[in-house]
Amino acid sequence: MNIDIELIQESKIDKVDFNNLAFGRVFSDHMLVCDFKDGEWKTPKIMPYGPMTFEPSARVFHYGQAVFEGMKAYKDDNDDVFLFRPDENFHRINKSGERLAMPPVPENVFMEGLKKLLEIDGAWIKKGFGNSLYIRPFIIASEGAISASPAEEYKFIIICSPAQSYYAGEVRVLFAEKYSRSADGGVGFAKAAGNYAAQFYPTSLAHKEGYQQIVWTDANTHEYLEEAGTMNVFFRIGNKLITAPTNDRILDGVTRKSIIQLANDYNIDIEVRRVSVTEIKEAARKGELKEIFGSGTAAVINPIKGFKHQDETFELPDMEDSYATFFKEKLLGIQYNKLEDKHNWRM
Ligand code: COI
Repeated sequence: MNIDIELIQESKIDKVDFNNLAFGRVFSDHMLVCDFKDGEWKTPKIMPYGPMTFEPSARVFHYGQAVFEGMKAYKDDNDDVFLFRPDENFHRINKSGERLAMPPVPENVFMEGLKKLLEIDGAWIKKGFGNSLYIRPFIIASEGAISASPAEEYKFIIICSPAQSYYAGEVRVLFAEKYSRSADGGVGFAKAAGNYAAQFYPTSLAHKEGYQQIVWTDANTHEYLEEAGTMNVFFRIGNKLITAPTNDRILDGVTRKSIIQLANDYNIDIEVRRVSVTEIKEAARKGELKEIFGSGTAAVINPIKGFKHQDETFELPDMEDSYATFFKEKLLGIQYNKLEDKHNWRM
Protein backbone atom coordinates (compact mmCIF):
# COMPACT_ATOMS: atom_id res chain seq x y z
CA MET A 1 0.00 0.00 0.00
CA ASN A 2 1.16 3.51 -0.81
CA ILE A 3 1.57 5.92 2.07
CA ASP A 4 2.58 9.53 1.47
CA ILE A 5 5.10 10.56 4.08
CA GLU A 6 6.04 14.03 5.26
CA LEU A 7 8.50 14.00 8.15
CA ILE A 8 8.89 16.69 10.81
CA GLN A 9 11.92 19.02 10.66
CA GLU A 10 12.85 18.56 14.31
CA SER A 11 11.56 16.07 16.85
CA LYS A 12 9.86 17.30 20.05
CA ILE A 13 10.95 14.20 21.92
CA ASP A 14 13.74 15.83 23.92
CA LYS A 15 11.28 18.25 25.48
CA VAL A 16 9.17 15.45 26.98
CA ASP A 17 9.59 14.24 30.55
CA PHE A 18 8.80 10.54 30.08
CA ASN A 19 8.86 9.95 33.84
CA ASN A 20 6.04 12.39 34.48
CA LEU A 21 3.31 11.87 31.95
CA ALA A 22 -0.29 12.86 32.54
CA PHE A 23 -2.45 10.63 30.35
CA GLY A 24 -3.10 11.88 26.82
CA ARG A 25 -1.49 15.31 27.01
CA VAL A 26 1.63 14.82 24.89
CA PHE A 27 1.62 13.50 21.34
CA SER A 28 4.32 11.94 19.22
CA ASP A 29 5.83 13.70 16.22
CA HIS A 30 3.60 12.26 13.51
CA MET A 31 0.03 11.25 12.78
CA LEU A 32 -1.66 9.25 10.07
CA VAL A 33 -4.53 10.79 8.14
CA CYS A 34 -6.65 9.08 5.50
CA ASP A 35 -9.54 10.80 3.73
CA PHE A 36 -12.77 9.18 2.57
CA LYS A 37 -14.19 11.09 -0.37
CA ASP A 38 -16.14 10.29 -3.54
CA GLY A 39 -17.04 6.90 -2.09
CA GLU A 40 -13.48 5.69 -1.44
CA TRP A 41 -10.59 5.86 0.99
CA LYS A 42 -7.70 7.82 -0.54
CA THR A 43 -3.96 7.27 -0.10
CA PRO A 44 -3.08 7.62 3.61
CA LYS A 45 -0.60 10.27 4.68
CA ILE A 46 1.81 10.34 7.58
CA MET A 47 2.51 13.94 8.49
CA PRO A 48 3.67 16.06 11.42
CA TYR A 49 1.22 15.97 14.34
CA GLY A 50 -0.50 19.34 14.50
CA PRO A 51 -3.67 21.39 14.11
CA MET A 52 -6.00 20.58 11.23
CA THR A 53 -8.53 22.75 9.44
CA PHE A 54 -12.24 21.87 9.32
CA GLU A 55 -15.36 23.61 8.14
CA PRO A 56 -17.39 24.75 11.18
CA SER A 57 -20.26 22.87 9.54
CA ALA A 58 -18.37 19.52 9.66
CA ARG A 59 -20.98 17.00 10.74
CA VAL A 60 -18.87 15.64 13.54
CA PHE A 61 -19.31 18.93 15.41
CA HIS A 62 -23.08 18.86 15.12
CA TYR A 63 -24.12 15.24 15.28
CA GLY A 64 -21.18 13.57 16.95
CA GLN A 65 -20.58 11.16 14.09
CA ALA A 66 -17.28 9.93 15.52
CA VAL A 67 -15.85 6.62 16.73
CA PHE A 68 -12.47 5.74 18.15
CA GLU A 69 -10.21 3.00 19.46
CA GLY A 70 -7.62 2.68 22.19
CA MET A 71 -4.50 0.54 21.70
CA LYS A 72 -0.96 0.46 23.02
CA ALA A 73 2.49 -0.29 21.61
CA TYR A 74 5.01 -1.90 23.98
CA LYS A 75 8.79 -2.23 23.71
CA ASP A 76 10.72 -5.19 25.08
CA ASP A 77 14.32 -5.35 26.34
CA ASN A 78 15.60 -5.95 22.79
CA ASP A 79 13.86 -2.84 21.47
CA ASP A 80 11.30 -4.93 19.62
CA VAL A 81 7.89 -3.30 19.45
CA PHE A 82 4.62 -5.15 20.01
CA LEU A 83 0.95 -4.50 19.60
CA PHE A 84 -1.59 -6.48 21.61
CA ARG A 85 -4.44 -8.07 19.63
CA PRO A 86 -4.62 -5.19 17.11
CA ASP A 87 -7.03 -7.18 14.93
CA GLU A 88 -9.60 -6.78 17.71
CA ASN A 89 -9.34 -3.00 17.52
CA PHE A 90 -9.48 -3.03 13.75
CA HIS A 91 -12.70 -5.05 13.78
CA ARG A 92 -14.22 -3.06 16.60
CA ILE A 93 -13.67 0.35 15.02
CA ASN A 94 -15.58 -0.80 11.97
CA LYS A 95 -18.31 -2.37 14.10
CA SER A 96 -18.65 0.95 15.94
CA GLY A 97 -18.54 2.83 12.64
CA GLU A 98 -21.25 0.66 11.11
CA ARG A 99 -23.60 1.59 13.99
CA LEU A 100 -22.94 5.25 13.22
CA ALA A 101 -23.43 4.76 9.46
CA MET A 102 -19.76 5.25 8.61
CA PRO A 103 -17.80 3.52 5.84
CA PRO A 104 -15.42 0.79 7.06
CA VAL A 105 -11.71 1.58 7.14
CA PRO A 106 -9.78 -0.96 5.02
CA GLU A 107 -7.58 -3.37 6.96
CA ASN A 108 -4.37 -2.35 5.16
CA VAL A 109 -4.93 1.34 5.88
CA PHE A 110 -5.41 0.54 9.57
CA MET A 111 -2.68 -2.07 10.02
CA GLU A 112 0.01 -1.01 7.57
CA GLY A 113 -0.62 2.65 8.31
CA LEU A 114 -0.23 2.02 12.03
CA LYS A 115 2.92 -0.09 11.60
CA LYS A 116 4.55 2.59 9.45
CA LEU A 117 3.60 5.30 11.94
CA LEU A 118 5.13 3.26 14.78
CA GLU A 119 8.29 2.68 12.75
CA ILE A 120 8.65 6.42 12.27
CA ASP A 121 7.77 7.35 15.87
CA GLY A 122 9.38 4.27 17.45
CA ALA A 123 11.58 6.38 19.76
CA TRP A 124 8.38 7.49 21.54
CA ILE A 125 7.80 3.94 22.83
CA LYS A 126 9.77 3.64 26.05
CA LYS A 127 10.84 0.34 27.57
CA GLY A 128 9.80 -0.99 30.95
CA PHE A 129 6.59 -2.28 32.53
CA GLY A 130 4.03 0.49 32.62
CA ASN A 131 5.54 2.49 29.75
CA SER A 132 3.77 2.38 26.43
CA LEU A 133 2.68 4.45 23.49
CA TYR A 134 -1.09 4.86 23.65
CA ILE A 135 -2.56 4.77 20.16
CA ARG A 136 -5.78 6.56 19.36
CA PRO A 137 -7.27 5.67 15.94
CA PHE A 138 -10.52 7.52 15.19
CA ILE A 139 -12.94 8.30 12.39
CA ILE A 140 -14.81 11.57 12.11
CA ALA A 141 -17.41 12.92 9.72
CA SER A 142 -15.49 15.80 8.17
CA GLU A 143 -17.94 16.86 5.49
CA GLY A 144 -19.18 20.43 5.87
CA ALA A 145 -22.96 20.06 5.77
CA ILE A 146 -25.47 20.26 8.58
CA SER A 147 -28.46 18.25 7.48
CA ALA A 148 -28.92 15.48 10.02
CA SER A 149 -27.78 12.59 7.86
CA PRO A 150 -24.58 10.55 7.46
CA ALA A 151 -21.65 12.42 5.97
CA GLU A 152 -20.18 11.64 2.60
CA GLU A 153 -16.66 12.59 3.69
CA TYR A 154 -14.65 11.23 6.63
CA LYS A 155 -11.19 11.28 8.04
CA PHE A 156 -9.50 8.29 9.62
CA ILE A 157 -6.72 9.55 11.87
CA ILE A 158 -4.21 7.88 14.17
CA ILE A 159 -2.44 9.88 16.86
CA CYS A 160 -0.09 8.51 19.52
CA SER A 161 0.61 9.59 23.06
CA PRO A 162 3.30 8.22 25.38
CA ALA A 163 1.51 6.84 28.43
CA GLN A 164 2.06 5.54 31.91
CA SER A 165 -0.92 4.96 34.19
CA TYR A 166 -4.39 6.27 33.44
CA TYR A 167 -5.63 6.71 36.99
CA ALA A 168 -3.38 8.43 39.49
CA GLY A 169 -4.21 7.23 42.99
CA GLU A 170 -6.95 4.99 44.36
CA VAL A 171 -10.25 4.56 42.57
CA ARG A 172 -13.60 4.51 44.34
CA VAL A 173 -16.86 4.34 42.43
CA LEU A 174 -20.54 5.13 42.70
CA PHE A 175 -23.03 2.55 41.48
CA ALA A 176 -25.36 4.45 39.12
CA GLU A 177 -28.84 5.11 40.50
CA LYS A 178 -30.18 7.88 38.30
CA TYR A 179 -28.23 8.44 35.11
CA SER A 180 -27.59 5.78 32.47
CA ARG A 181 -24.77 5.25 30.03
CA SER A 182 -26.61 3.18 27.46
CA ALA A 183 -29.86 1.43 26.66
CA ASP A 184 -31.09 -1.63 24.80
CA GLY A 185 -30.77 -1.09 21.07
CA GLY A 186 -28.50 1.91 21.63
CA VAL A 187 -24.81 2.50 20.99
CA GLY A 188 -23.34 1.38 24.31
CA PHE A 189 -21.33 -1.41 22.66
CA ALA A 190 -19.70 1.04 20.24
CA LYS A 191 -16.73 3.25 21.00
CA ALA A 192 -18.78 6.23 19.92
CA ALA A 193 -17.41 9.58 21.07
CA GLY A 194 -20.79 10.62 22.47
CA ASN A 195 -20.88 7.65 24.85
CA TYR A 196 -18.00 9.25 26.68
CA ALA A 197 -19.22 12.87 26.58
CA ALA A 198 -22.55 11.76 28.05
CA GLN A 199 -20.74 10.45 31.14
CA PHE A 200 -18.87 13.66 31.90
CA TYR A 201 -21.67 15.40 33.77
CA PRO A 202 -22.71 12.50 36.06
CA THR A 203 -19.03 11.67 36.60
CA SER A 204 -18.32 15.28 37.59
CA LEU A 205 -21.09 14.97 40.21
CA ALA A 206 -19.43 11.77 41.44
CA HIS A 207 -16.07 13.61 41.66
CA LYS A 208 -17.66 16.18 43.96
CA GLU A 209 -18.54 13.34 46.31
CA GLY A 210 -14.99 11.98 46.15
CA TYR A 211 -15.60 9.16 43.64
CA GLN A 212 -13.48 8.87 40.50
CA GLN A 213 -15.84 6.80 38.39
CA ILE A 214 -19.38 5.50 38.08
CA VAL A 215 -20.18 1.85 37.56
CA TRP A 216 -23.13 2.04 35.22
CA THR A 217 -26.19 -0.07 35.88
CA ASP A 218 -28.86 -1.20 33.43
CA ALA A 219 -31.08 1.70 32.40
CA ASN A 220 -34.37 -0.09 33.18
CA THR A 221 -33.90 -1.15 36.79
CA HIS A 222 -30.49 0.22 37.89
CA GLU A 223 -30.04 -3.18 39.51
CA TYR A 224 -27.50 -4.88 37.22
CA LEU A 225 -23.90 -3.70 37.13
CA GLU A 226 -22.57 -3.21 33.61
CA GLU A 227 -19.33 -1.27 33.04
CA ALA A 228 -17.45 1.73 34.32
CA GLY A 229 -17.35 3.76 31.15
CA THR A 230 -13.59 3.71 30.71
CA MET A 231 -13.31 0.12 31.95
CA ASN A 232 -15.16 -3.18 32.07
CA VAL A 233 -15.68 -4.37 35.63
CA PHE A 234 -14.90 -7.62 37.47
CA PHE A 235 -16.14 -8.65 40.92
CA ARG A 236 -14.52 -11.29 43.10
CA ILE A 237 -16.76 -13.03 45.61
CA GLY A 238 -14.75 -15.59 47.58
CA ASN A 239 -12.56 -17.07 44.86
CA LYS A 240 -15.12 -16.65 42.11
CA LEU A 241 -14.68 -13.91 39.54
CA ILE A 242 -17.79 -12.47 37.90
CA THR A 243 -18.20 -10.06 35.01
CA ALA A 244 -21.26 -8.98 33.07
CA PRO A 245 -21.83 -10.49 29.62
CA THR A 246 -21.37 -8.06 26.72
CA ASN A 247 -24.49 -6.99 24.89
CA ASP A 248 -25.56 -3.91 22.99
CA ARG A 249 -25.05 -1.79 26.12
CA ILE A 250 -21.55 -2.90 27.11
CA LEU A 251 -18.22 -2.44 25.35
CA ASP A 252 -16.62 -5.70 24.24
CA GLY A 253 -13.29 -4.85 25.87
CA VAL A 254 -10.09 -6.46 24.58
CA THR A 255 -8.57 -6.50 28.08
CA ARG A 256 -11.84 -7.93 29.43
CA LYS A 257 -11.87 -10.84 26.99
CA SER A 258 -8.17 -11.48 27.58
CA ILE A 259 -8.77 -11.72 31.34
CA ILE A 260 -11.61 -14.18 30.78
CA GLN A 261 -9.30 -16.31 28.62
CA LEU A 262 -6.47 -16.10 31.18
CA ALA A 263 -8.88 -17.08 33.97
CA ASN A 264 -9.74 -20.19 31.98
CA ASP A 265 -6.07 -20.89 31.25
CA TYR A 266 -5.19 -20.68 34.94
CA ASN A 267 -8.29 -22.51 36.22
CA ILE A 268 -9.70 -19.51 38.01
CA ASP A 269 -13.40 -19.87 38.57
CA ILE A 270 -15.00 -17.25 36.31
CA GLU A 271 -18.64 -16.59 35.58
CA VAL A 272 -19.80 -14.34 32.78
CA ARG A 273 -23.30 -13.46 33.90
CA ARG A 274 -25.45 -10.64 35.15
CA VAL A 275 -24.34 -9.37 38.51
CA SER A 276 -26.69 -7.37 40.67
CA VAL A 277 -26.14 -4.50 43.07
CA THR A 278 -27.99 -6.54 45.74
CA GLU A 279 -25.64 -9.51 45.30
CA ILE A 280 -22.53 -7.32 45.57
CA LYS A 281 -23.78 -5.41 48.59
CA GLU A 282 -24.79 -8.62 50.36
CA ALA A 283 -21.41 -10.18 49.62
CA ALA A 284 -19.71 -7.03 50.92
CA ARG A 285 -21.75 -7.10 54.14
CA LYS A 286 -20.83 -10.74 54.73
CA GLY A 287 -17.13 -10.04 54.05
CA GLU A 288 -17.23 -12.25 50.96
CA LEU A 289 -16.60 -9.49 48.43
CA LYS A 290 -12.84 -9.61 48.04
CA GLU A 291 -12.13 -7.39 45.06
CA ILE A 292 -13.57 -5.21 42.36
CA PHE A 293 -11.36 -4.16 39.48
CA GLY A 294 -11.74 -2.45 36.16
CA SER A 295 -10.06 -3.44 32.92
CA GLY A 296 -9.29 -1.46 29.80
CA THR A 297 -6.48 -0.60 27.44
CA ALA A 298 -5.73 2.75 29.02
CA ALA A 299 -6.39 1.66 32.59
CA VAL A 300 -4.93 -1.89 32.15
CA ILE A 301 -6.27 -3.45 35.39
CA ASN A 302 -7.23 -0.99 38.06
CA PRO A 303 -8.32 -2.05 41.54
CA ILE A 304 -11.44 -0.35 42.85
CA LYS A 305 -10.99 0.32 46.55
CA GLY A 306 -14.55 1.09 47.50
CA PHE A 307 -18.03 1.90 46.31
CA LYS A 308 -21.19 3.72 47.30
CA HIS A 309 -24.80 2.89 46.58
CA GLN A 310 -27.77 4.74 48.04
CA ASP A 311 -26.39 5.95 51.33
CA GLU A 312 -24.15 2.99 52.03
CA THR A 313 -20.42 3.02 51.47
CA PHE A 314 -18.20 -0.04 51.30
CA GLU A 315 -14.43 -0.46 51.42
CA LEU A 316 -12.69 -3.42 49.84
CA PRO A 317 -10.02 -5.30 51.81
CA ASP A 318 -6.34 -5.28 50.78
CA MET A 319 -5.76 -8.71 49.27
CA GLU A 320 -2.45 -10.55 49.39
CA ASP A 321 -3.37 -12.96 46.60
CA SER A 322 -5.18 -10.32 44.57
CA TYR A 323 -6.64 -11.40 41.23
CA ALA A 324 -6.11 -7.85 39.92
CA THR A 325 -2.37 -8.16 40.56
CA PHE A 326 -2.26 -11.70 39.17
CA PHE A 327 -3.97 -10.80 35.89
CA LYS A 328 -2.02 -7.58 35.53
CA GLU A 329 1.27 -9.47 35.81
CA LYS A 330 0.15 -12.06 33.28
CA LEU A 331 -1.14 -9.49 30.82
CA LEU A 332 1.90 -7.21 31.05
CA GLY A 333 4.14 -10.26 30.80
CA ILE A 334 2.54 -11.13 27.47
CA GLN A 335 2.38 -7.54 26.24
CA TYR A 336 6.07 -6.86 27.00
CA ASN A 337 7.25 -10.18 25.54
CA LYS A 338 8.30 -11.67 28.88
CA LEU A 339 5.80 -14.52 29.05
CA GLU A 340 4.76 -17.17 26.59
CA ASP A 341 2.03 -15.96 24.25
CA LYS A 342 0.08 -19.12 23.66
CA HIS A 343 -2.92 -17.40 22.08
CA ASN A 344 -0.79 -15.36 19.64
CA TRP A 345 -1.99 -12.06 21.04
CA ARG A 346 1.28 -10.23 20.38
CA MET A 347 1.99 -8.76 16.98
C1 COI B 1 -9.11 2.89 26.45
O1 COI B 1 -8.98 2.23 27.47
O2 COI B 1 -8.31 2.80 25.53
C2 COI B 1 -10.23 3.79 26.27
O3 COI B 1 -10.59 4.00 25.16
C3 COI B 1 -10.81 4.51 27.40
C4 COI B 1 -10.55 5.96 27.22
C5 COI B 1 -11.69 6.77 27.67
C6 COI B 1 -9.26 6.40 27.79
